[in-house]
Amino acid sequence: MHYNKFFRGKQKNSAKGNKGVVAEAVAQYGAGIAQLHREPAEQPIASLLDNIIEGDNLTILKSIPDNKINLIITSPPYFRQRDYGSGIGNEKTVDEYINNLIHVFAECVRISRKEGSIVFNLGDKYLEGNLQLIPYRFALETLKKFPVKLVNNIIWVKPNPTPRQYQKRLVSSTEPFFHFVKSDDYCYNISSYISNNGAKTKRTNSNNIGKKYFELIEISNLTLEQKKMALCELQEVIEEVKTGKIESFRMKIKGIHSEPFGGQDGGRKYQLLRKGFTIIKIKGEPIKRDVIECAVETIKGCKHPAIYPLYIIKELIKLLSRENDIVLDPFMGSGTTVVAAKELNRRYIGMEINGEYCKYARERLKNSYNKSQELFT
Ligand SMILES: C[S@@+](CC[C@H](N)C(=O)[O-])C[C@H]1O[C@@H](n2cnc3c(N)ncnc32)[C@H](O)[C@@H]1O
Repeated sequence: MHYNKFFRGKQKNSAKGNKGVVAEAVAQYGAGIAQLHREPAEQPIASLLDNIIEGDNLTILKSIPDNKINLIITSPPYFRQRDYGSGIGNEKTVDEYINNLIHVFAECVRISRKEGSIVFNLGDKYLEGNLQLIPYRFALETLKKFPVKLVNNIIWVKPNPTPRQYQKRLVSSTEPFFHFVKSDDYCYNISSYISNNGAKTKRTNSNNIGKKYFELIEISNLTLEQKKMALCELQEVIEEVKTGKIESFRMKIKGIHSEPFGGQDGGRKYQLLRKGFTIIKIKGEPIKRDVIECAVETIKGCKHPAIYPLYIIKELIKLLSRENDIVLDPFMGSGTTVVAAKELNRRYIGMEINGEYCKYARERLKNSYNKSQELFT
């Protein structure tokens, strides 16, 4: 729904509306300044939930009451990268651009809950061969201006960047996702992030697990009997990695690997001597790092030129919110954030200045599923 329509109906019913604010401003500064201060009436948050609102995000954000949103994830237009028709991104200078983003960020901080998070993904820009470090300049400004903490700079690594080799610079293939919080009590579900949520890690997916050990057993001086036993145990431990029972393993083979240093006689040294090999199982979860690798996505028929990966957004939503929490994207584009939120049983609010993208995002939402529906199919 377009912003004007959306709020016209609501404003009629708004108990407080703008009247108080505007009347106050008129009394103090005269009618001209009051006009400048006009803002949409505050909306009860329930009326905004599970909606895509078309319009300028700064105006819409101002209608949201303080401390209401659990998670904001967004990716503003990059500086002078594309023409989205209107909105932020085509300012004359980097400072102007950052300043406009800071206004939006200020509203994000205001409407976020104490235990909430704000995640901004930004791209960089070369001007006359000079890398501007725009994401970092933005992050520094936010830390100077607002009472927020920067928890992580999560680096999105793109294995498929634009295939254009420059002769005097390397191809950029990373982008930061800055994770900000308002307090130390932020919601954080580390166990739901990447490794144990069904998203398989590269290693568990791979058919190459332990491949090198098969070759080493083959060329070793072990007896036929020892080789048989080694192959059998190797096969078993590979299965344990594949099914997620253990994280990984190392194998030591007599005559090929060095003997374990120190240790008890009855331990690994003894196994090496008796069986000709030993297997060390590594239990526990892999360490969760501030790097996330994911290919740049293109969706068939999508008119939006710069979507971010659904996979990354889902991981961040799982990490930083709970079911039924409110997830908001003020630069919604094709609707990746709202689709991810819906599919993970979160409430969503999307804002986008371009009507075509709003239409497209609504279509995407229609075709998405959510987990609770899955239970009944
Ligand atoms: C980089 S794109 C976001 C893409 C999105 N993450 C996705 O996956 O599709 C930024 C979007 O912000 C929108 N935009 C720019 N200025 C805006 C403003 N002031 N209010 C609302 N939307 C705006 C643009 O039209 C564009 O679609």
